Amino acid sequence: MEDDARREKIRKALREVKNLPTLPGIVTKLTQMAENPDTTTEQMGKVIGKDHILAAKLLKLVNSAFYGFPQRVSSINSAIILLGFNVIKSLIISASIFELMEDQDVELWEHSLGCAVVCSVLAKRLGVSDPEEVSTAGLIHDLGKVAIKMELPQEYAQISVLVESRGISRREAEQEVLGLDHAEVGGWLAKSWNLPGKLVEPISCHHQPGQAENERLSAAIIHFSDIVIRGLGYGHGQDVWVPALRPEAWELLKLKPEDIDELLVEVEEKLWDVKGFSLDIKAGGVGGLPADGAEKG
Ligand SMILES: [Fe+2]
Ligand SMILES: [Fe+2]
Repeated sequence: MEDDARREKIRKALREVKNLPTLPGIVTKLTQMAENPDTTTEQMGKVIGKDHILAAKLLKLVNSAFYGFPQRVSSINSAIILLGFNVIKSLIISASIFELMEDQDVELWEHSLGCAVVCSVLAKRLGVSDPEEVSTAGLIHDLGKVAIKMELPQEYAQISVLVESRGISRREAEQEVLGLDHAEVGGWLAKSWNLPGKLVEPISCHHQPGQAENERLSAAIIHFSDIVIRGLGYGHGQDVWVPALRPEAWELLKLKPEDIDELLVEVEEKLWDVKGFSLDIKAGGVGGLPADGAEKG
């Protein structure tokens, strides 16, 4: 009984997420606009253009090695025309959550960035209709860890001690201390920010893709990518060992051993480019926008 009361208290604290900044209202507005087929490029460009900082971040992200678009994109309107509403929507979400995560834990951020790279390569190979969305979900899949760290710092420290001392997985330790795990927390948070269901479900099911109802393939892609990136030793997923791949993910992805070889070559190449981007973050490059908030050129 006492345990139940404690868990309920923890759920409440996490649900309220007082210390986490809320996503700017513009994100919700743009998400809705992107979903409306009548929205025009000009309308969307106007809304983004009103927020100079967001516009600058968006252009910086579009032109970064992470996305690696072949041509330089210099205006919001051309970005929308070139990339389409859905990609822009994903970029806005990434740009907004960006600082929140990098401020908290650079190694976890690197893990997330790497996971997003693998997601993007794999989603494209599998012919998924919206690979940018899967990649965005990969980028923010461990958001729940950030929320736990910010809202429940004592419990977070306790979880880290358990992981180290008993060699159990982070999720097991979270279950033991909190009665729930970071995937569930991340799912709530994404939902409370009104992020699209295509992002919410893969986040909440990234450790158990079989539990996803509508976005099972995306959840499986993130699950697989999370493990691959740990195996490659890129960033830090906060576990002492690489967790096992769930059989249902393997069945959903239908990969052959030779596919994995090719995938890894492509991922390593892309990671090499992104590494510079990641170092840039460490040096404050991406957050360090020009003083007037406007991207030139
Ligand atoms: Fe995770
Ligand atoms: Fe992860």
